[in-house]
Formats: sequence, structure tokens, C-alpha cells
Amino acid sequence: MSNHISSVDIDFFKSVVGESEVLLDKSEKLFYASDETEDLVFIPSLVLKPKTVGQLSKIMAYCFNKNLKITPQGAKTGLSGGALPLDNSVALSMEYFNKIISIDEQNLQVTTETAVITEVLQEKVAEKGLFYPPDPASKGSCFIGGNIAENSGGPKAVKYGVTADYVLNLEVVLPDGNVIWTGANTLKNSTGYNLTQLMIGSEGTLGIITKAVLKLIPLPKYDMLMLIPFNSAEKACEAVSAIFRAGVTPSAIEFMERDALLWAANFINDNSIKISNNVQAHLLVEVDGNHQEVLMQDCETIMKVVEDFECGDILFADSQAQKDKLWLLRRRVGEAVKSQSIYKEEDTVVPRYELPKLLKGVKQIGEKYGFSSVCYGHAGDGNLHINIIKGDMSDDKWNKELTKGIEEIFKLTVSLGGTISGEHGIGYVQKNYMTIPFSHIQLNLMKQIKHVFDPKGILNPKKIFPDNIV
Ligand code: LAC
Ligand code: ZN
Repeated sequence: MSNHISSVDIDFFKSVVGESEVLLDKSEKLFYASDETEDLVFIPSLVLKPKTVGQLSKIMAYCFNKNLKITPQGAKTGLSGGALPLDNSVALSMEYFNKIISIDEQNLQVTTETAVITEVLQEKVAEKGLFYPPDPASKGSCFIGGNIAENSGGPKAVKYGVTADYVLNLEVVLPDGNVIWTGANTLKNSTGYNLTQLMIGSEGTLGIITKAVLKLIPLPKYDMLMLIPFNSAEKACEAVSAIFRAGVTPSAIEFMERDALLWAANFINDNSIKISNNVQAHLLVEVDGNHQEVLMQDCETIMKVVEDFECGDILFADSQAQKDKLWLLRRRVGEAVKSQSIYKEEDTVVPRYELPKLLKGVKQIGEKYGFSSVCYGHAGDGNLHINIIKGDMSDDKWNKELTKGIEEIFKLTVSLGGTISGEHGIGYVQKNYMTIPFSHIQLNLMKQIKHVFDPKGILNPKKIFPDNIV
């Protein structure tokens, strides 16, 4: 199904956003043809770069009337293909919506446009002693709007929650061009259906988010960081739930298999962290708060707990530079894997205590189907990023057999009480697995919600729903 754009349409778009903000050349469109998902490329029919909500609303109303498909795009850092302009759709880049509108220090809120880079927003509110915790690995380049669309998490989610926990109210342009606010700027709200939460994680399929009111909290004064090596990856995972049971809630507890850390170290050309031959995995554990002596006690408790899980010598970061380096290593794992081999990344999540069973099962499934995997992720949330490495696997096996292996991983995840995406979303690459966590009844409810918002199916086509569900 192609998205036929006529010269009349192009003239209309130029009249709305100005000639320079309508991109028609293939060379210019290429930048908008992919996100960070594998090596997928879908060239859009054209690219539009509106600057105001008014322009965006006019574009949507026009496309609605003419049945033209549109794919909204933020920073294109997504890992599930949510921003890929399928069906030759129009790519609608939000890049100009990049202003922080106001920081309300009385109510601890920030109102922002949605193409603001997450880390930029964090730094701006930190200048006022405030904290916006959600911190995806791509925080230096991803946009707040994309974080809302995918309900992003990141390391700090384990203590502070995910994006959904910080969104109070959203301005949204609907597929027919109408503009609404979804709720109120209040911490509590039990007034009708919760349209705000419905938009969060809807992956650009229900409306285009143009402004957000986000909750802030006071910035914690101190943090401490430890890198803990383990001789067994499963034991490292077992230690995770034991730490919480001992009464400590770390502000991050990240798991990295041996190769994850090694590849990241090579990727950033820094081999200063020594990894002994018998080490199979690491936990990177951070605690934060306002009282250093309490954090010291928390660290002592953690050190005592991990002793029971055959850990090695713990590296305690003794300077800000060392903390920054350890976090850089962790944040670069995804890119390091990508540079190493063709791969597929899954974003499974299970209740925390089930994590060792998930890891063990993934390795067994890998042996059965002949693939290796490098796993890492937000262990405190039971959120395991499984990178399936193509390595020497034949193209035939990779293209045909692998789907069955992934299905088995997802079935195992669901059988452990988990689900198939914790923070990356379903988008394009996971949609055909949606029948594993959901029944037809559940999927039909979702489909009907989609229909209410987008009756003509023009917004972000071919995402979330399996191909065989119409
Ligand atoms: C991370 C991204 C891939 O945790 O979610 O590094
Ligand atoms: Zn992650």
C-alpha cells in the first residue's frame, strides 16, 4: 500500500511549513529512513518539519481528509522501529519542538516541548536542585517525546520509576488535527478515563505529543557506585533480589555479562577495568540519597549480601571521574554490540526473582537453535536486554530459524510472569509476537482504542499490531 503524494499535496505542505521544511530529495530523506533498530531502512515519501502546533494541526487535518499516512519522529534513537516510516508514509520530524517552556519551582514541575533532549532537561532542572529521574541509555540524544511515546525506563527506574510515573499532562495533536490536553497539572487525578496514561507508551499511534508537564523531585545530594564481579552470571542475577530483601533499594542495579563489559571497553578504547578470566558477569550498583553515612551502610549491606553469591573483588568508584567512566561503559554496551555483529535485541522483563531462570532459559534456547547471546540490562527491574548475535550463523538460519528461538524466549518470559518489552516498545520489530503476551480479546480492545483515535489508520502505520490482526 503506497502513500501517493501529489504535487497538490506538496504545494499544500509547503504553504504550511515553508518550502525549506519539506524534504523531497532522496539524499535528504535518507536521514529520516531509519532509527537505531538493527539496520532497517524505510525511505519516507517526504519529510515535513513543522515548527508550531498550529502547523502540525493543519498537516494532520489535511492528511486525515486525504487519507495520507504519517509517521511521527523524534530523535530516532528507538530500538523497536517505532519511528520507521513504513508504507512510504510521510515522516513528520518533531525536531523544532525543542524548548523548555517553564520550570515551576513552587510545584516541582517542568513544562516542555517534546523534542528536548532528555539529558538537557535533566541538567536544566538540576541547576535548580530538581531531579527528573528517567534516564534511558541514550539520554544524551533521545527526546522527551520519544521517552513518553515508548514509556522509557533506564537504570534509575528501579528506585524512581519509569517515564509514566513523571508525566502529569500532555498536549496532543490528534490524527484529525484537533488539539487536546489529556489531563491536569496535578499529582492526583481520578477524573474520568486517564487519557494521559493512555498516550504514554502508545508509540506515536494515537496522537502526536507536542508538550508535556512532568513531575520533578528534589535532587539527591550524594551517590556511591560499585562494580561487582561474579564467577557465574546466574549467581549475579540471584544476588539482585537478595539485595532488595536485605532492605536496600539501590538507585541502579545493572547486570552485564562478561562480553557486554568487554565489548563496551573495546568500543570506547578504555581497558583500564581489569576483568579476570573466571569472571562471567558484573553488577553495577548505585545507591543515592542525602546522607552519606546511610549510603555507606547501604553499601556495606550490599557487600555482605553479594559475598554469598561468589563475587570477586569489588571496585568501589572513588572519584566522579571513575563513576563517569563506569556509567559510560554501561551506557555504551548497546552500541558496542551493534558494532560487533549483526544482531537482534530483545527487551524482556520478568518479576525480579525470576531473572536467573530467564537467563538460564535464554542460554538453553540459544544452544538449541545455534545462536549465542550477550545479555545485559536493568536487573533490579527484571529487565533483561538479550542481544542475539548472528556471528557465523548462516543467513538462512538467521532469517528462518531464529524467529522460532525468539518465540521460545518470549514464551518463557511470559510463563515466568513477565512480558516481551520492558522499555523499548513493540513498534515494528516485535509486533508479530504480540499474540504471545496477549489474547485476541485483549488485542481487539487495543485495536478498538486505536480506531477511536485514528479511525482511518493514518498515524504511524503497521506498528504494534500483528500483521494478521486487522
Ligand atoms: C540500554 C538500552 C539498550 O539499557 O535500553 O542500554
Ligand atoms: Zn535499557
